[in-house]
Amino acid sequence: MLLELRKIEVVYNNVILALKGVTIEVPEGNVVTILGANGAGKSTILKAVSGIIAIENGKVSNGEILFAGKRIENKDPSEIARSEISLVMEGRELFRTLTVEENLKVGTLIRRGHKREIGKDLEVIFQYFPILKERKRQVAGTLSGGEQQMLVISMALMTKPKLLLLDEPSLGLAPLIAELVFSEVEDINKNLKTTILLVEQNASLSLPISQYIYVITNGLVAYKSKAEGIKGTDISQYYLGMGA
Ligand SMILES: Nc1ncnc2c1ncn2[C@@H]1O[C@H](COP(=O)(O)OP(=O)(O)OP(=O)(O)O)[C@@H](O)[C@H]1O
Ligand SMILES: [Mg+2]
Repeated sequence: MLLELRKIEVVYNNVILALKGVTIEVPEGNVVTILGANGAGKSTILKAVSGIIAIENGKVSNGEILFAGKRIENKDPSEIARSEISLVMEGRELFRTLTVEENLKVGTLIRRGHKREIGKDLEVIFQYFPILKERKRQVAGTLSGGEQQMLVISMALMTKPKLLLLDEPSLGLAPLIAELVFSEVEDINKNLKTTILLVEQNASLSLPISQYIYVITNGLVAYKSKAEGIKGTDISQYYLGMGA
């Protein structure tokens, strides 16, 4: 198991219990999707794994997070990033006034890599997202929503993660663009062998590229299943509270 969350609880500001004992397993090479309604605790799971909760005055107050067998809960986010876990946050956080290429290079600062090697990595990424190559001198703030999503995923990939944490990549994208992003995410998983823990509200998009799904409601795992054979429309009705 590449990543294991064992009965983790997360509290914010020492009072708000956002996760109430969540157990999730992410096998190496798989795509595991976390589904759930607004406020269920999906992003909190990714923030706990990446250590970012500390910045928001949150902490794992119970349970364990294991990455490649090592405990990582409540570790410093920079230390976790160096252990090859990369988070793409909700809302496409990038450097709006820097160019596409400059944004891509920011992520390599923690790698201290050679220039030539970084150039090669850029070319690999441009194969997945050729539009970014065309736009590499464009200021990132002027990219379309879909292009920005491709850029933040690419920024994360530049750190060469073993585990990629993706928070709602389809949010606010037109259906066709969201499909394009998901098909690239699938290719990245298959070709670069990157293990992916994905948070989504869109089950129809995420199910076909996932091996396992978890439904989170109110800080708890309400349902866990292999993705195969599950219909996106059925499962989304379930977690969006529109019936069973
Ligand atoms: N920094 C924070 N400080 C205090 N409470 C927080 C913080 N971040 C999240 N919460 C609370 O924790 C709960 C879970 O939030 P979280 O962002 O994980 O939900 P989510 O499933 O990602 O929702 P959405 O689909 O809207 O993104 C919510 O009740 C939220 O208000
Ligand atoms: Mg969220």
